[in-house]
Amino acid sequence: MSWQAVGIFDSGVGGLTVLRELSRVIPQEDTIYFGDTARVPYGTKSPETVTRYAHEITSFLIRRDIKLLVVACNTASAVALPSLKRHFPIPVVGVIEPGARRAVEVSRSGRIGVIGTAGTIRSSAYTRAIKRLNPQAEVLTRACPLFVPLAEEGWVDNQVARLTAQTYLQELKEAGIDTLVLGCTHYPLLKPVIAEVMGAGVTLVDSAAETALTVAGILRQKKMLRPASEKGNHHYYVSDIPAGFIRVGNRFLGGRLGDVYQVNLDEDGEEG
Ligand code: DGL
Repeated sequence: MSWQAVGIFDSGVGGLTVLRELSRVIPQEDTIYFGDTARVPYGTKSPETVTRYAHEITSFLIRRDIKLLVVACNTASAVALPSLKRHFPIPVVGVIEPGARRAVEVSRSGRIGVIGTAGTIRSSAYTRAIKRLNPQAEVLTRACPLFVPLAEEGWVDNQVARLTAQTYLQELKEAGIDTLVLGCTHYPLLKPVIAEVMGAGVTLVDSAAETALTVAGILRQKKMLRPASEKGNHHYYVSDIPAGFIRVGNRFLGGRLGDVYQVNLDEDGEEG
């Protein structure tokens, strides 16, 4: 058992969908969340830049003595996970592998769709992970960048959301996939409209939920899980002023955020 917290980071508010699932599956754990709100979005940036950001944030969280790191951001998981695992001495869990595993489990036809940011789709990380598990699988991908601002604006159930989803998903629908991976932190908020467009024959896989189960499994296996009778505390850090993060974050978390602190990663490094 370990009383240290679980660290979790994302480019901004999106990772709160992963935190929400973590608090549902392992409510006894303390968490420290970092949202890189000064540098969001990651989905449009190069792998080199996102990897550098991911290293800076992981160093920050490790200085706060976390026992495990969750890379909640799909883009950061897609491009930076191997490098983080090599450099840092704690278990590092991304969202790609759990989502891919679940997709392979639920797909009957092996025709699997993946949607995500431009960076995630360009990296082919989901395609590689799915094909490692099922070399026969056919993976069809589509970047859906406009879903991110729609989710943040709260436009998840109106005509704009519906038309955007129809436009992005038309080809995947026509290709006859039976499973669709929501490969971006923001997409669970658009689940109803995505489900409506794809129809009842397509199973949606939410990486956030699968990742939470993976984290619980690792903590249990390493005997680091706190007793179920405990109640975890949650701390939040952001790199820009907290106002916008708090406003949008409450909706992503599906509850009220606690105190949110702004930090300057460079200065923190000097102090630490
Ligand atoms: N968190 C990012 C992801 O899951 C979406 C937002 C961004 O582009 O930074 O890929």
